[in-house]
Amino acid sequence: MKNLPQSIIRKKRDGFELSGDELRDFASGVADGSVSEAQIAAFSMAVYFQDVSPRERVDWTLAVRDSGKVLSWADHGIGLDRGAPVIDKHSTGGVGDSVSLMLGPMLAACGAHIPMIAGRGLAHTGGTIDKLESIPGYTTGLPPADFQRVVREVGIAIVRQTDTLAPADRRMYAVRDVTATVENRGLITASIVAKKLVAGLDALVLDVKAGNGAVMQDRDDALALARMMVDVGNGAGMPTIARITDMSEPLAFTAGNALEVQESIEYLTGGPQHPRLRTVIEALGTDLLLQVGLFKTRKAALAALRSSISSGAAAERFERMVHAMGGPSDLLNRPLVHLAPAPVVMPVYADRVAVVSGMDVRALGWSVVTLGGGRTSPDAPINPAVGLSALVQVGAEVGPQAGADAGPSSTVQPLAFVHASNQQSAEQAAAAVRAAYRFADPSTQTPSAPVLIDVVH
Ligand code: URA
Repeated sequence: MKNLPQSIIRKKRDGFELSGDELRDFASGVADGSVSEAQIAAFSMAVYFQDVSPRERVDWTLAVRDSGKVLSWADHGIGLDRGAPVIDKHSTGGVGDSVSLMLGPMLAACGAHIPMIAGRGLAHTGGTIDKLESIPGYTTGLPPADFQRVVREVGIAIVRQTDTLAPADRRMYAVRDVTATVENRGLITASIVAKKLVAGLDALVLDVKAGNGAVMQDRDDALALARMMVDVGNGAGMPTIARITDMSEPLAFTAGNALEVQESIEYLTGGPQHPRLRTVIEALGTDLLLQVGLFKTRKAALAALRSSISSGAAAERFERMVHAMGGPSDLLNRPLVHLAPAPVVMPVYADRVAVVSGMDVRALGWSVVTLGGGRTSPDAPINPAVGLSALVQVGAEVGPQAGADAGPSSTVQPLAFVHASNQQSAEQAAAAVRAAYRFADPSTQTPSAPVLIDVVH
């Protein structure tokens, strides 16, 4: 007989260790709907306060994995033993963290296969699935057979958790997003590693963010999370490494769903590449290509990744994936036709002439949620068009808007542009953005924090 959800929640609430059976029963109840949203929230909060032991962490991860189907590539003619490795990366979440949208197609162009099971936005961080769903027609909930077909034919497909793929994580994730229960290392480990085990990977590289815009703000917490995920991944037979990367600045010029897709298209088609974003993409990409032996040296792997952009091969993979998933066939040529713009676009200026010395990245992320780019209840619709663009980096010279009589030499860079559904929410977001930035006097040296912090094997 199954353990009752309320007994499992009570036991965890009171600080006791749950057995493998109890964790499996809870995960299967989450997956089949017999555990309610309220019970998921109570369980997540109990785990948040009482935490899980290393043994519970492994059992919970495997229970989430086994809540649905686990993919195998043996019948699809791909896999490490056939020279066509099946690999992936996953981030713990950040602001302007659109790495997957570019790195996935780049890796596919380098000969790998990427079955990426990703998530929607989580707390103040953006989600790959929300970004892709801003493309009209793109279907993130494909049945496994179609998902595997697209991976085989195109080299990459990005889908979400479904009733078949990691169903327990699908519901847990949506509830954690809106109940302030994201920041528990055991829950994060299970959520991420289970999805990757479901995908049947030959190798995984994790991007564990550290800093104010990350789920783990503290560097030691990020390292501990990386250690846990690497150990659980390796222990389950999936070669896993992790990088700790900095999230004390947004990782890209934009934060917001359609805006990040647009920036990714520009990146893939020879447009501007945010330097911090490029550093992370190239580090994670070379790690993976070396890990599965597609290249022998970091230099050769890096050259292949760069040539996937200059040759147009990565852009072509991205476009083919979008079309295969139900989206338009000409997204790259006509992005602005397909990605609807927000009705109000407003520059935000600093109050004085200064250099940017830092920013509250978490507040920037929450401002995107408040604009309608994230959720306040599970499965609520979001507005894909809203967000922030042209976000300045640490060290940028900024100032107030130049007056009408200012000469051409007085062009002043705004802090960002707010993209909103109406004037009122644009003004609220503009105030939040202005308050999120910290400034120093113009002559002050304000170096950016290095983006690559550490590696965990
Ligand atoms: N990404 C996930 O898939 N799950 C988490 O819990 C955090 C980031």
